[in-house]
Amino acid sequence: MAGLLRFDGKVALITGAGQGLGREYALLFAERGAAVVVNDLGGSFKGEGQSTRAADKVVEEIKAKGGKAVANYDSVEFGEKLVETAIQNFGRLDIVVNNAGILRDKSFARISDLDWDLIHKVHLRGSFSVTRAAWPHMKKNNFGRIIMISSAAGIYGNFGQGNYSAAKLGLVGLSNTLSIEGKKYNIKCNAVAPTAGSRMTETVMPPELVAALKPEYVAPLIVYLCHEDTEETGGLFEVGAGWVSKLRWERTNGAVCRTASTKMTPESVRDEWQQITDFDNATYPQSAADTTRHLIGILSDLDGGLGGKKSTKSTSSSSNGINVELAKAAKIRPSTFTYGPKDAILYALGVGYTTKDEDYLKFLYEGSEDFSIVPSFSILASQASSAGIFTGGIPGLSVDVTKILHGEQYMELYKPFPPNGKLTSQARVVDVLDKGVGALILIDVDTYNEAKEKIAYNQSAIMVIGAGGFQGSKASPALKPMVKPPKRAPDASMAEKTGVDQAAIYRLTGDRNPLHIDPSFAAMGGFKQPILHGMCSFGYATRHVMKTYANNDVSKIKAIKTRFSKPVLPGETIQTDMWKDGNRVYFQCKVVETGVPCLTGAYVDLYDGATEAKVTSQPSGGSNMKSNAVFEAMKQQLAGKKDLVKKIKAVFGFEITKDGKTAAEWTADVKNGDGAIYQGKPKSGKADCTIVISDDDFVDLVSGKLNGQTAFMQGKMKLKGNMMLAQKLGDLFKDQAKL
Ligand code: NAI
Repeated sequence: MAGLLRFDGKVALITGAGQGLGREYALLFAERGAAVVVNDLGGSFKGEGQSTRAADKVVEEIKAKGGKAVANYDSVEFGEKLVETAIQNFGRLDIVVNNAGILRDKSFARISDLDWDLIHKVHLRGSFSVTRAAWPHMKKNNFGRIIMISSAAGIYGNFGQGNYSAAKLGLVGLSNTLSIEGKKYNIKCNAVAPTAGSRMTETVMPPELVAALKPEYVAPLIVYLCHEDTEETGGLFEVGAGWVSKLRWERTNGAVCRTASTKMTPESVRDEWQQITDFDNATYPQSAADTTRHLIGILSDLDGGLGGKKSTKSTSSSSNGINVELAKAAKIRPSTFTYGPKDAILYALGVGYTTKDEDYLKFLYEGSEDFSIVPSFSILASQASSAGIFTGGIPGLSVDVTKILHGEQYMELYKPFPPNGKLTSQARVVDVLDKGVGALILIDVDTYNEAKEKIAYNQSAIMVIGAGGFQGSKASPALKPMVKPPKRAPDASMAEKTGVDQAAIYRLTGDRNPLHIDPSFAAMGGFKQPILHGMCSFGYATRHVMKTYANNDVSKIKAIKTRFSKPVLPGETIQTDMWKDGNRVYFQCKVVETGVPCLTGAYVDLYDGATEAKVTSQPSGGSNMKSNAVFEAMKQQLAGKKDLVKKIKAVFGFEITKDGKTAAEWTADVKNGDGAIYQGKPKSGKADCTIVISDDDFVDLVSGKLNGQTAFMQGKMKLKGNMMLAQKLGDLFKDQAKL
């Protein structure tokens, strides 16, 4: 650390320094070597009367400590006089702290012209007057430090302070502009909103607080900001009790409330209100030029440029808001995504991880020795960076956000995610394909960790229905291709029922599209109920492959690709069928209840050395059985119902047949320990009751389509051992009835 911040040779003018905060600033500047002009009119806090006493006392205090100071008793309205005092006594002026202030608090309707004018005269006009007089001296010296003392009442508003808050926020605007105009002269200007006990706050704060909030807990910030080494300018700070904080503007991504062919109306504003006010993925604009640039982008996108002239380059521009060249050339601002274990655990719960399976604890408990983050979590950082693309954020892509569908996703992982992280993602539009029915937008996103190492790459293919027909290419080498699974029966399958609240949980990880929660919104899209996020099903599939072929080791997942073919409804069962060839696991997911494929053309590439989990690898011959999915689902349910063991007290064996031959064997041990369902013969030796049934009949039996007694009478189900125990199967199958 460098040494003490000194001000030797510098001259500071502090207005209203006869007492309160101003006095503290004056004392500290003098202590650090500055020559100080102590200005104070010496009136009441309401701005009445005047006296030389206040300023004189502070000057005496400074001198008594060996410092340099001179008094000035003019009102800040006459800035020239204050500056003159500095020049005459010390020959220069380097620092101005516009601190003088009064109060004339009244509820709005009772503010008189005098109340308004006096407040503005002292605070806003006074700061203007003093600073304008100081400016040429600072410019000449190529050095200046200016502080505008603002107030929380101005930033946030405060009852009874309409006049005061207007003036105090006016000072922030003045400070912002001076910081811009002063840049080339090394003049820095900042605004500070302090809180401290003083005669001004005596009327509104209890005495203990007035005593505790000492001005000395504010002054060091003012002094720091005025040091020659301090580069900060155009900042706004809150300070009090020793706490210092910087404020900034935050802007939502907003929405464009018109299109090239439709007008902006009050109704179009109303319809976009949610988007206009949604601070998810907000940005922090820094200058008025930021806003202008943004607006020019929108104009060029919608109207083809300034002056309302549409572009004549018809080859790449289209009436439906797509301009491929503009979109590809657009510079998208990098976004940051900060997360901790809580976010990662919420994501894991969102994609169905459960404490019912002990293997999954490492994804759900930050205290686990090998706490891990699900690889597909990388989508959250990626989506945060590309979210603004569809909301008028970049030129060339003015699309109707209600017509957007997530078509395909590709993900490449270079390093496991640490438990905490601040990731930076850079998105870019790599192509826009004309698919006739819609435009397929390809967005590539690279994600970096704090060490600037690339840890993930995502490609999202987003379909905008109705935006096709712009004479664009139909295919692109940039699109990561899908693959077809081998023709043979799957090598392994895993099925799981999603929770009825799965989408409600998943959306909390970031994608708050009402399609996934709001029945009326879903109905508008033609769905009978809100649908699960495609990326949630993606998470399920990733989990299934990782459990089956990578022993839940996140470091083994290299790449994942899928197409979102059909939606899944929360509560439905997702079955992942898998085929392994070398380091590639082809997979396909379907909804068990309807048999409809939901994720297709998919694969997971593994890094070398991935080991299969013994629990889930399937013996040959039994892998393409429908009953496997049922047993997998029952497995999970049993884990949550340990009381079943006490109730049933039996070990069941199942011989599942196909074409008259036993094709798979399963055991439901609902007798020992907490109970277990697994493939193969009973580990305990012998089943109390064995059920022999075909694969199809078993699924019908479990789902309630086939009555147990009828099945037995018709010879569809054979029983060995204690046949009476078969009556208890109902308890075991109860929760599978909906299958
Ligand atoms: P204070 O009343 O103790 O000090 C203000 C000083 O300004 C007084 O000595 C007064 O004589 C002087 N003054 C008033 N009108 C003047 C004029 N026309 N010309 C020259 N001097 C004049 O008040 P305090 O609390 O020390 O406030 C200092 C500044 O901080 C003010 O601008 C106030 O609005 C601001 N502020 C204070 C807060 C607090 O918690 N104390 C909260 C937010 C802002």
